[in-house]
Amino acid sequence: MTAKIIWDSSFETGITEVDAQHKRLVEIINSLADAIGHTPANALKEIVEQLKDYAVYHFRTEEGIMQEAQYSDIAGHRDEHAMFVDQILLFDLDVILASEGLAWDMLHFLRGWLTNHILVVDKKFAAELHG
Ligand SMILES: [Fe+2]
Repeated sequence: MTAKIIWDSSFETGITEVDAQHKRLVEIINSLADAIGHTPANALKEIVEQLKDYAVYHFRTEEGIMQEAQYSDIAGHRDEHAMFVDQILLFDLDVILASEGLAWDMLHFLRGWLTNHILVVDKKFAAELHG
């Protein structure tokens, strides 16, 4: 059982820019999975910060597309994005990254959130966009 996200076609929304950015988010989370256990905490922290910054950038792209398309549930979708960013900001990285167990717990949360968000929330938007 790997801790990494294995990208497959089930993740595709059919929106080229969104799919490319999702792949990048998966790459960053996978690089964190590779690093936990044999990388100093400050280097792990850089990866988490990179993830947060790229997520903010990606959410802005997605929200722009939703606005353009006048998506019916833009408010709900935006809330999901905001809660994710808030959660990352709430993580006490100095404490979490000092413990391998806590670092894995955080990785599992990040992985679970992203895969569920793509498969459920982003797919719902893509279905309406393509519908
Ligand atoms: Fe999204």
